[in-house]
Amino acid sequence: MKEGVHVNTADLIWLNGEFVAWEDAKVHVLSHALHYGTSVFEGERAYETSRGPAIFRHHDHLQRMENSCKLYYMDLPFSKEQIREATHELIARNGFSSCYIRPLIYRGHGPMGLDPEDNPVEAMIAVWEWGAYLGEEAKRTGVRAKVSSWRRISPQSLQPHSKAGGQYLNSVLAKIESKRAGYEEAILLDEQGHVCEGSGENVFVVKDGQIATPGQTSSILDGISRKSVMEISADLGRPVVERDVARAELALADEVFLVGTAAELTPVREIDDIEIGPPGPLTREIQSVYEDALHGRSPRYEKWLDRVAVPSKA
Ligand SMILES: Cc1ncc(COP(=O)(O)O)c(C=O)c1O
Repeated sequence: MKEGVHVNTADLIWLNGEFVAWEDAKVHVLSHALHYGTSVFEGERAYETSRGPAIFRHHDHLQRMENSCKLYYMDLPFSKEQIREATHELIARNGFSSCYIRPLIYRGHGPMGLDPEDNPVEAMIAVWEWGAYLGEEAKRTGVRAKVSSWRRISPQSLQPHSKAGGQYLNSVLAKIESKRAGYEEAILLDEQGHVCEGSGENVFVVKDGQIATPGQTSSILDGISRKSVMEISADLGRPVVERDVARAELALADEVFLVGTAAELTPVREIDDIEIGPPGPLTREIQSVYEDALHGRSPRYEKWLDRVAVPSKA
């Protein structure tokens, strides 16, 4: 493990088309993104499967990264296919069988000031070994969450649909607040006071067998885990309804769960000190199918896997 790093980070990082040593992956202190948050990124995972590592919904993540760029007037400096291939090579060269993947597109060093359009758009990909974000225990027993006093960024000020670096100050404030108050996760409301999402996850509520999640106009990030869980639920004969969700519905739900690439599917067992209860049957059923899909154990969802070719050991 490298000094100051709490995860097992790879030896190599991909930076602007080159594979460089971890300690050489540097940016200039006058990089525009460092000052003004002008970056976009993805969070993806590759899982170990019986046929080698497989990246979950890689194409969808790359498409969302391109969309995130578009919303901030940035062009991807490499094609999606080039980034895809570089990611495969990075995983193979680092010898990981499973890892978290973090591609980042950012405005680099150039003119200082708020007009970024003459600053170069640069790219990097890092991979590291990382367990479930809220913990394996949380995936089994659920987390205690708190409705944040911070509202999720509004589409009147920023682009909730973009996974842009600067926007994450909103999640950071919510996360710190919930952690300091003794909770494991924050759930943010939107500007209207409707339920929006967790600091890094989308949220689902179950009541009387009906599953609901906030829709595209509720300031959510259009989560890829969310999309997957919606498809799985529909396939299980439980189509998810996208609608406004009132704050009280969290506390009064039979089941609540969060989904995101980092946290995977994590149940919520308590909200604002009100007990929801241990993970319920629908949460368990969807979680089990989802885990099978992630780990390449489900022929039905094989379509979601981008398999990484690993060099055979001579
Ligand atoms: C704010 C926010 N909402 C939702 C999600 C879930 O998105 P995904 O399932 O694509 O990881 C994330 C994680 O990327 C996030 O950061």
